[in-house]
Amino acid sequence: MSNAMNEFSRFAHQYDQHNMIQAEVAKRLISGLSTNHYRNIIDLGCGSGAVYHNIQEQKISYDTFMALDSSKEMLAIHPNDEKIQKIHADFNTPEAYQHVSLKKEEATLFSASALQWSKDLDFVFSHLASLAREAHFAIFTSGTFHTLHLTAGIESPIYTKEQLQEVIECYYKATFTLQSYRLEFKTVRDMFRYIKKSGVSGGEKQLSYKQVKKLMEIYPLDYLEFEVLFVEATSLAS
Ligand SMILES: C[S@@+](CC[C@H](N)C(=O)[O-])C[C@H]1O[C@@H](n2cnc3c(N)ncnc32)[C@H](O)[C@@H]1O
Repeated sequence: MSNAMNEFSRFAHQYDQHNMIQAEVAKRLISGLSTNHYRNIIDLGCGSGAVYHNIQEQKISYDTFMALDSSKEMLAIHPNDEKIQKIHADFNTPEAYQHVSLKKEEATLFSASALQWSKDLDFVFSHLASLAREAHFAIFTSGTFHTLHLTAGIESPIYTKEQLQEVIECYYKATFTLQSYRLEFKTVRDMFRYIKKSGVSGGEKQLSYKQVKKLMEIYPLDYLEFEVLFVEATSLAS
């Protein structure tokens, strides 16, 4: 998983060309909102600002916007405005939560395509639930690259939807929606290039160069699969 985070940094400047699915995911997360003003927004794993851009596009207003990411390179390309506070922090560490001193009732959490990198789901969601009353998450599940992992005989490096739901329900009253996506490619080579640059998977790192070559020969589809769990949640923490 830490390898995947390095990829985000390495390709930060090209990232926007390689994130078609993440762009769709952020759009869907924000277009489902029924509120048009938030007091304090916290965007976990903000990246280059997909949540921010969609919030602007939908004309949703806010008093403050906290953009948190563990990659300095990503934070550097996230938009700036007078209401944005950028926080360089890792949501897998207790220190990340010390940066936030907002009233829980006045804070709303957003996270698009980032929480699949939670090292310990209990740790992360228990902290998130005490940070903000309302939360909107989109989290990649193990259904992502399903056939690829099956063909390679490797286990997905990310959580199943069941694992995510079980932990989230300990800390939130939540509704879940599962969404599948397909991304088609002209050549298998393009597909593997995409995987490397997208920073979504991580799983192919378990394979040697020879194994990747073999996998490219036998992969049966001309598309990649993605599966995302959308979560609308209200914290149970008092
Ligand atoms: C796939 S990108 C998504 C970015 C953006 N939210 C979007 O929807 O396009 C995931 C982001 O999460 C960040 N990230 C991954 N693990 C993190 C962690 N443990 N703490 C904070 N940010 C993290 C990465 O640096 C990257 O910017």
